[in-house]
Amino acid sequence: MSARPGVIVTMDGPAGTGKSSVAWNLAQRLGLEVLDTGAMYRAAAVVAIDEGVAADDGAALAARIAEEGLAFDWSSRPPRMLLGGRDLTERIRDADVNVVVSVVARQAALRAALVEAQRVIGRAHPRLVTEGRDQGSVVFPDAQVRLYLDAHPEVRARRRVEQMRSQGRPADYEAVLRAIQQRDHLDETRTDGPLVCPQGAVRVDTSGLSLDQVVGELERIVRASVPAERLAPPRAAQPA
Ligand code: DC
Repeated sequence: MSARPGVIVTMDGPAGTGKSSVAWNLAQRLGLEVLDTGAMYRAAAVVAIDEGVAADDGAALAARIAEEGLAFDWSSRPPRMLLGGRDLTERIRDADVNVVVSVVARQAALRAALVEAQRVIGRAHPRLVTEGRDQGSVVFPDAQVRLYLDAHPEVRARRRVEQMRSQGRPADYEAVLRAIQQRDHLDETRTDGPLVCPQGAVRVDTSGLSLDQVVGELERIVRASVPAERLAPPRAAQPA
C-alpha cells in the first residue's frame, strides 16, 4: 500500500465526454492510479454474450463474475481488465458489448456486487481517479473531489466517430448519435445508481475544449482542494 495519504477523485458523466482519456491523463499528472468502472460493467456484458447468461439476470451475472474472478492487472498502465485467466481489455470495446452493456448495467444485483468490488479496490488503491456514472453519488460519496463531465450529444457523437475511425473501425455519425442518446436515456432513468451530477460535484462542460484543456482545468480544480503534499508536483511550465 502507498505510504502517501489517500486521495479519491471521482469523475462521472455520460458516454463520449472523453472521461477515460481525461481520467488517465489527470491521474498521471496528479500521481494517482485510475479505475475505469465502465470496464467492469463491460466485462459483465461479455459474460452475458460469450457465456450465454441473460443480460437482465443480474444475480446470475454477479455469480459468474464471482466464480471466475473479475480483477484489474494493476501492474499495467492503465490497468488491464481480467476475468479469470482471460484478458478482456480489447474485447470489452467491441460493438456487440456496447449494445448489451446498458441492459446489464441496469441490473440491481450486479450493480450491488460491482459497487462493493469498487469500494474494495478503493481500499487497496486509496490514491485513485475513479470514473463512471455513480462514483461520486453512490460508491465514494466522501471523495475529496467529485467531478462531473458533460458535453452536448452532437459533440460527443463527433468525438466517438473520430475515435472509431482512428482505430480503423467504420462509423456512421447519425447511428452513433442515436446510440449515445439511447444510452444516456437508459443510464439516467434506471432506478439504481442512475447517472446524476453528484452533490457537491464540480461540473465541467467539455464541449468546446480539447483533451489537454479539460485535463488542465480539472487539475486546477483538484489542486485547489487537495493539500499539495498529497499529489505529485505540477509539471514544470513549458517554455513558450
Ligand atoms: O463508460 P463506459 O461507456 O465504459 O460504460 C459502459 C456502460 O456501463 C454504460 O452503459 C454505463 C455503465 N456504467 C454504469 O452504469 N456505472 C458505472 N459506474 C460505469 C459505467
